[in-house]
Amino acid sequence: MKFFIDTANLKEIQEAYDLGVLDGVTTNPSLMAKEGITGKANVIAHYKAICDIVDGDVSAEVISTDLEGMLKEASELIEIDDKIVVKVPMIKDGIKAIKALSDRGIRTNCTLVFSAGQALLAAKAGATYVSPFIGRLDDISMDGMELIEQIVGIYQNYGFTTEVLAASVRHPVHLLKCAELGADVVTCPLSVITSLLKHPLTDIGLEKFLADYKKANQ
Ligand code: E4P
Repeated sequence: MKFFIDTANLKEIQEAYDLGVLDGVTTNPSLMAKEGITGKANVIAHYKAICDIVDGDVSAEVISTDLEGMLKEASELIEIDDKIVVKVPMIKDGIKAIKALSDRGIRTNCTLVFSAGQALLAAKAGATYVSPFIGRLDDISMDGMELIEQIVGIYQNYGFTTEVLAASVRHPVHLLKCAELGADVVTCPLSVITSLLKHPLTDIGLEKFLADYKKANQ
């Protein structure tokens, strides 16, 4: 399973990279705005800075909602670095854009996916990744995990190569459930990855080992 970090914060990306388990980064316009990155030149420079840290795929989202605009943005984004994956929203022109880009060998991430039907369309259009948003479904009392299970099953039935990139992952249980269900990738905040480190018995056990060592070596 690949671990992507869902942020545009360079410090967090560097920290996740230094941990040695980072496979990629996803961003979105809200995450870029949160870091105060505005204006085309700054946005491009920021994507470049992310690509310089990470050894893996970096999803950069288009802002346009029409086919022509999305294709134009995609051609600019892929110029930044080979690591860039063009993130395209799940709308009619988005599906057309994914098809056109995939026909040209350009990698895409179909975002804002909330149903199995949408995921099926994205795979048929040739998306490299499909991003079902688990947390946002849970927020409206639906079961995000059920959607992951459905998509993984459908893709397996037909041998689609589109990777299931579980997004809007809010806590470690989300991540672990995705692993059990066979999602190819999770993207989440750094805190979700580092929370996997923690167990009280590890802390208690380490404290005892070190105390025993100290006693024996006095
Ligand atoms: C996915 O690519 C999105 O950037 C992200 O996972 C959305 O998560 P949120 O629902 O926590 O904003």
